Amino acid sequence: MALFPEYIIREVSEKNDIYDVVSKYVRLKKSGNSYIGLCPFHNEKTPSFSVSPSRGVCHCFGCGEGGDVISFLMKVENISFYEAVKKLADMANITLPEISGHDREDARRAQERREGIYAINKEAALFFYEQLKTSRQSIDYLKKRQLSGAVVKSFWLGYAPDSWNSLFDYLKSKGYTESDIYNAGLIKKHESGRYYDMFRNRLMFPIFDASNNIIAFGGRVFDDSKPKYLNSPESAVFSKSRNLYGINVARNSKKNEVFLTEGYMDTIALIKSGFTNTVATLGTALTEQQAKMLSKIFKEIIICYDGDNAGCMARLRAITVLREHDIKISVIDMGASKDPDEFIKTNGVDRFKAVAAKRKNDMEYVLDYFGKDYDLKNPQSVVSYTDDVIEYLKLIRSSIEQDVYVNMLSSRTGVSANAIYSQLGISKAKQPKPAADVKGTDPLVLQLKSTAGKKHDILDKTREHLLSLIIFSKAVYNKNKDCITESLFEDEFHIRLLRFVKVCYEEAGSVTPAQITAHFDSEEDNPRAARILSLDNMSDDSAKAYEDYIKIIKSEIKKQSIHRLINSSETDDLSRINNLLKNEG
Ligand code: UTP
Ligand code: MN
Repeated sequence: MALFPEYIIREVSEKNDIYDVVSKYVRLKKSGNSYIGLCPFHNEKTPSFSVSPSRGVCHCFGCGEGGDVISFLMKVENISFYEAVKKLADMANITLPEISGHDREDARRAQERREGIYAINKEAALFFYEQLKTSRQSIDYLKKRQLSGAVVKSFWLGYAPDSWNSLFDYLKSKGYTESDIYNAGLIKKHESGRYYDMFRNRLMFPIFDASNNIIAFGGRVFDDSKPKYLNSPESAVFSKSRNLYGINVARNSKKNEVFLTEGYMDTIALIKSGFTNTVATLGTALTEQQAKMLSKIFKEIIICYDGDNAGCMARLRAITVLREHDIKISVIDMGASKDPDEFIKTNGVDRFKAVAAKRKNDMEYVLDYFGKDYDLKNPQSVVSYTDDVIEYLKLIRSSIEQDVYVNMLSSRTGVSANAIYSQLGISKAKQPKPAADVKGTDPLVLQLKSTAGKKHDILDKTREHLLSLIIFSKAVYNKNKDCITESLFEDEFHIRLLRFVKVCYEEAGSVTPAQITAHFDSEEDNPRAARILSLDNMSDDSAKAYEDYIKIIKSEIKKQSIHRLINSSETDDLSRINNLLKNEG
């Protein structure tokens, strides 16, 4: 992101009121010094998205998304950093400085390269499409698969002739160079140095991105030869882990839910049956990036993977990946059918609608799926079954939801809910203990204490409050700077933030939120910085708050080391434990 110097990013953030920008997308209500509204990044009924104009950040206390005005715009509009800065600069009448000749040239060239590939791919798709019209083999095959002319047209299906160079020659005749065509992944290079067509004698499926550019192709054989599908190699515009077949159509479907399939043919079958909200992964397991992309557009993802063993594995894997995101997950049971395409062909669209309506949510599916393997009258099977399911219950973030499934598992197996909880690593029986002996009724300290039961929560939350406190109180920083050391922290991001804050104070005598968000501008850092900047310093007495935080942090760190020593259970350490306990204070 070194495209613009830091000061310009800061200016763009400072001159665009984050309230003005966010309120174009979210209805905001005043709440103290900030505003609050429904989070645009996840589905919620009670508002937890907070916007602080004075600090220039927004943050969702529900899903953790947020950042400065630039990263907000990037996320909500799904645009690049460069595009967001340009947009905001325009809105605030800031003339962007000549960005360093080098970077600018690089960015321009990269953009040109991408556009060049889109153009070649489009030309190739039109070529394949023309070829299909006269290919008896393709027409027969399409008939066999019940794909009409309208489907061919809307998906730009085509035929790559059985020839080593027909596309290559065609593209050259259109003025493209060898290296252009090679970079698009349409030709391969032989040892002899000669180029030849990558796709030969295949039914061609162009792959579009969300903006309808053709970024790659998949090509299917007409018989049983291998590989069944050949896909374009990764290129400047195509990454199979970041794209999804059908996303260009699904994006405009205006549906809350999306069907996720494994294949080109499944997606086409569902779309032509009216389910325009369907996508497919491109021959790989669902990735983090794909999950993120879908969770930004949809509220629910309905997994419609193949019924074979590989499909079952892929389903569990997808659940694991998707549980990291705020999206409802459901699973369709298609019985004995191989895949959705076959299901619809055999049973019809109405039956598909019916099984879709009867979809299970992911945890119900997990409970049933593993249940099939075990005889729950056998004690050892109960143990194995419970172990299998618990691995998935661990993925649930909401404690209420977790409770529901713990109880369900308990009633199916007869294992007590408490035993399941302890296996999950959560002790339900024990009441959370206060974190440290901190006197006073500071609302913030009370808030921190109330969360003390959650293992690392209290420590990390207090650390973040401390960071926020020193950012907003120069007096507290100046008075205590020698005591505020890296040893109070553990998290690599906290340490980097502390270092940056120190450098700003030492070199310029001040630090501003915009300076921080401009410095921590990566996709990972920016929301974390915003989160810390959004923390409310409810206390009127900063000096007292500081003392309290330090007390909590030190006492929690001590507790952790005692815990570690106890767990390491070396007898020698007993004296060390006693020492640690004696020094408690
Ligand atoms: P499938 O074998 O399930 O194919 O592979 P399909 O989509 O149902 O196609 P038909 O019905 O047999 O014609 C699922 C997906 O995995 C990728 C493709 O994206 C395919 O759609 N795949 C499969 C490959 O990339 N290469 C292969 O050799 C096979
Ligand atoms: Mn199929």
